[in-house]
Amino acid sequence: MNNHANRGVVYQGNGTVKVEAIPFPELAIGQRRCDHGVILKVVTTNICGSDQHMVRGRTTAPNGLVLGHEITGEVIECGRDVEFIQVGDLVSVPFNIACGRCRHCKEGKTGICLNVNPARPGAAYGYVDMGGWVGGQADYVMVPYADFNLLKFPNADQAREKIQDLTLLSDIFPTGFHGCITAGVGPGSTVYIAGAGPVGLAAAASAKLLGAACIIVGDMVEDRLNQARSFGCETIDLKQEGDMQDKIEAILGEREVDAFVDCVGFEAHACGCNHHQESPAVVLNSAMQITRAGGQIGIPGLYVTEDPGAADVAAQQGSLSMRFGLGWAKSHSLQTGQCPVMKYHRQLMQAILFDKIEIAKAVNVQMISLDQAPQGYADFDGGAAKKFVIDPHKMVS
Ligand SMILES: NC(=O)c1ccc[n+]([C@@H]2O[C@H](COP(=O)([O-])OP(=O)(O)OC[C@H]3O[C@@H](n4cnc5c(N)ncnc54)[C@H](O)[C@@H]3O)[C@@H](O)[C@H]2O)c1
Ligand SMILES: [Zn+2]
Ligand SMILES: [Zn+2]
Repeated sequence: MNNHANRGVVYQGNGTVKVEAIPFPELAIGQRRCDHGVILKVVTTNICGSDQHMVRGRTTAPNGLVLGHEITGEVIECGRDVEFIQVGDLVSVPFNIACGRCRHCKEGKTGICLNVNPARPGAAYGYVDMGGWVGGQADYVMVPYADFNLLKFPNADQAREKIQDLTLLSDIFPTGFHGCITAGVGPGSTVYIAGAGPVGLAAAASAKLLGAACIIVGDMVEDRLNQARSFGCETIDLKQEGDMQDKIEAILGEREVDAFVDCVGFEAHACGCNHHQESPAVVLNSAMQITRAGGQIGIPGLYVTEDPGAADVAAQQGSLSMRFGLGWAKSHSLQTGQCPVMKYHRQLMQAILFDKIEIAKAVNVQMISLDQAPQGYADFDGGAAKKFVIDPHKMVS
């Protein structure tokens, strides 16, 4: 079925991406057959902060990598061993690739599948160290283990109408929700969310869905903080100097929160007037400072094992300077790692379809064409309060 041309967003090194011709996907990866896979015509594919870590040269991502792990598509071809997914289905693709057969998949830990990446547990499309699977910021992409991985939308016409919300099920909505769940957020919780990027905003909207009493979002980008305020969050502008606990107290009347979600990761900037300076452990340290004793800390923000762009030698190996004794003394629980998207995507799809959340509005989805992807990357890197969603076949706009 190689009768289609294909184009994708390709990493060029040095902060640049380009849209280039790439091979039409096959039901294989290298020598490995994927008769359990499908080919998708990509309906929407989102640009993520995780992509930016690579594009900014802060990982060991090789030049020529086809990017894109947030994919929604229409099935156009099924491998021989696909039983339940059919041509014509409109589906959401979890960014984690999972076999459905290994010990971890059986435990629901699809972010650390043992069979999809020879180098380490866990895989993803279009990502460094994640198994070499081709990314989906493209016209077409192959998805392996399709029966296990894909979430089929119950009604394709209804799904097309809500596609700007449903496109967020491949990553950031489940990721923000998982951040809140692992931070113990529930009815009446007070929550601090570090970072007002798309993941932070998705976490804030999730905290609202979970019934949190007060949601405080911190960042240093004014537009992003305004976006958080637009759906009822309190905000802390980290450009203003001062102690984090004083700032929390000014809002809550207490110096600690019940739950903390790190939606920043290793490229964190120090708080206060020196905010241009990077300080990779600053969010983890403020988590231990402002979370109550016995509280939980969800860490969806990404931390790496190699950071060629880090300021000091230790951080180049992912070693950060944390005041871990403080967290220990307060009996904190910390949860790290990829979000196991499959654990949440069906329930969050239902929340969207039954109008229980306006997640696209919360993260301010902006649709763009495939040719506009390089500009989308640049604007996103500049701190635009937007979630860029590529519409390669102009099926949405
Ligand atoms: N665990 C997962 O499965 C998963 C999934 C998706 C994304 N991620 C990660 O989540 C993180 C956020 O993603 P995003 O798309 O929102 O990225 P983003 O870069 O748009 O957002 C990060 C935000 O953090 C802000 N920031 C920097 N230092 C800060 C500090 N000290 N305190 C508060 N805010 C600070 C930045 O100004 C920015 O607005 C990234 O590290 C990304 O890789 C993880
Ligand atoms: Zn992502
Ligand atoms: Zn597995």
